[in-house]
Amino acid sequence: MKKVVSAAALAIFCAATAFAADTMVFENKNGNVTFPHKKHQEMLKNCKLCHEKGPGKIEGFGKDFAHTTCKGCHESKKAGPTKCGGCHKK
Ligand code: HEC
Ligand code: HEC
Ligand code: HEC
Repeated sequence: MKKVVSAAALAIFCAATAFAADTMVFENKNGNVTFPHKKHQEMLKNCKLCHEKGPGKIEGFGKDFAHTTCKGCHESKKAGPTKCGGCHKK
């Protein structure tokens, strides 16, 4: 029984992965942000770094999430854009 449950969970997980765009563009007055989602998935290998509640839309995604979670990781890893113009392209 346990095996059946985990196979179903895996199927849902894979389906979710297939539906996320490789690259996402967040339109923004301050300059659009192009986010290489697939690159982050492969590089970080941990969905929970961004998806606390599992894959899919992120509740409350926007400026605060971006400037805390996205920029915060780039700062602590000393990799990835941290300047406004590094993410926001006009
Ligand atoms: C570096 C951050 C980050 C990581 C790591 C990450 N994601 Fe995402 N993901 C996002 C963002 C940002 C969105 C867009 C959120 C929104 O629009 O609410 C998103 C959206 C998605 C979506 C919804 C796509 C849509 O169009 O509705 C799925 C599914 C998804 N991610 C799956 C995954 C899986 C599976 C993993 C791990 C293998 C993963 N993500 C890792 C940041 C990340
Ligand atoms: C847990 C760590 C982490 C999080 C969270 C994270 N990133 Fe990154 N990001 C990185 C690292 C590490 C790199 C550098 C990759 C490289 O140089 O190859 C990077 C690179 C980038 C780049 C440059 C891509 C390129 O091809 O040069 C962009 C743009 C970017 N991130 C946007 C975002 C956005 C937007 C979010 C939030 C939705 C985000 N990142 C969240 C770790 C993270
Ligand atoms: C790591 C990438 C990253 C960096 C660095 C960054 N931003 Fe953002 N910013 C984002 C993302 C992603 C969003 C949310 C995108 C969305 O909701 O359209 C956002 C949202 C915003 C918004 C809200 C705009 C709106 O239409 O709601 C403003 C204003 C903003 N950023 C200004 C700045 C300024 C000023 C800086 C430099 C001090 C900066 N950002 C640095 C990624 C970044």
